[in-house]
Amino acid sequence: MLDQGYGIQESGNSAAAAFSVPRLLNPESFLRIVISGASSGIGLALARYYLTRGALVATFARRGELLAALSTAFPNQVFVYALDVRDAAAVQRAAADFMARAGCPDVVIANAGVSVGTLTEFAEDCDAFQQVMDINVLGMVKTFQPFVAAMRANSSLTKGRPGGVLVGIASVAGFRGLPGAGAYSASKAAAISYLESLRVELRGTGVRVVTICPGYIRTPMTAHNPYHMPFMLDADVAAARMARAIERQTSFTVIPWQMGVVGRVLKVLPRCVYDYLFAKAPHKPRNNGDVRRKT
Ligand SMILES: NC(=O)c1ccc[n+]([C@@H]2O[C@H](COP(=O)([O-])OP(=O)(O)OC[C@H]3O[C@@H](n4cnc5c(N)ncnc54)[C@H](OP(=O)(O)O)[C@@H]3O)[C@@H](O)[C@H]2O)c1
Repeated sequence: MLDQGYGIQESGNSAAAAFSVPRLLNPESFLRIVISGASSGIGLALARYYLTRGALVATFARRGELLAALSTAFPNQVFVYALDVRDAAAVQRAAADFMARAGCPDVVIANAGVSVGTLTEFAEDCDAFQQVMDINVLGMVKTFQPFVAAMRANSSLTKGRPGGVLVGIASVAGFRGLPGAGAYSASKAAAISYLESLRVELRGTGVRVVTICPGYIRTPMTAHNPYHMPFMLDADVAAARMARAIERQTSFTVIPWQMGVVGRVLKVLPRCVYDYLFAKAPHKPRNNGDVRRKT
């Protein structure tokens, strides 16, 4: 179905020049998935999950060399789009390119995210707050935006054909405000609310919205957390469970389920009890406002 050649889209702008695409002969026969943050951790595990099942996967991340390595491991299945999800125009170009070549995606997974400790009293953390919100919340909006109209147009409810599934990777950290992680907790709470708005807005259109809240998953993001992480899952195990939730189009899922129970308890704890229990909780390191350097 695919020929063996690869194309690098030549264009005057640098973002488009970072696109690498397989040449498709019959894109209609393949499951089409878009994944942001596919260069590492959960996004990479999700990409591998779908690629091993024969899907065509459009990958978004800043580190194009890691996406290129994935495309080498899965020849003719990976579309490489080296971009920053904060750059709406770059995401729109990538989406248009992917849809022109492969068609409307079946699933778009907005997974790209960053996490860093933040404390409001430090001026340098203002920038960290900005970046975390821009990537984790607005990056999700910018990732979905170019696909919504196409998915709506693609759906044919009378013929029972769904338009597609928009998947947002939020976090259990969005259930309550975690001390030392104000930016991250706020971004994930915002993501959960945003995804709920979108789900209701798209009700009846054939486009489904799936919110996934991971607990602790073993990835570079959690590699140096200086505290115990209960019920931690390997990324590939988490990815398989996420794929199941996506296939079932479950509107809201916590993975692993044990963290769903913890999350439910956290949500109903009275503020005075929550404050007492979490006042001395260990914090994620701050990194002095630098969200790129791994903690
Ligand atoms: N690991 C956990 O325990 C856990 C728990 C709850 C929720 N989550 C969420 O799961 C998602 C994935 O996290 P992870 O644990 O897999 O972390 P990770 O290994 O650090 O991966 C983060 C991914 O996001 C991408 N990314 C970050 N900023 C980006 C930007 N501006 N533009 C494009 N891509 C960007 C990174 O790629 P580049 O650096 O190459 O751009 C990378 O591929 C995040 O949304 C995170 O908040 C994780």
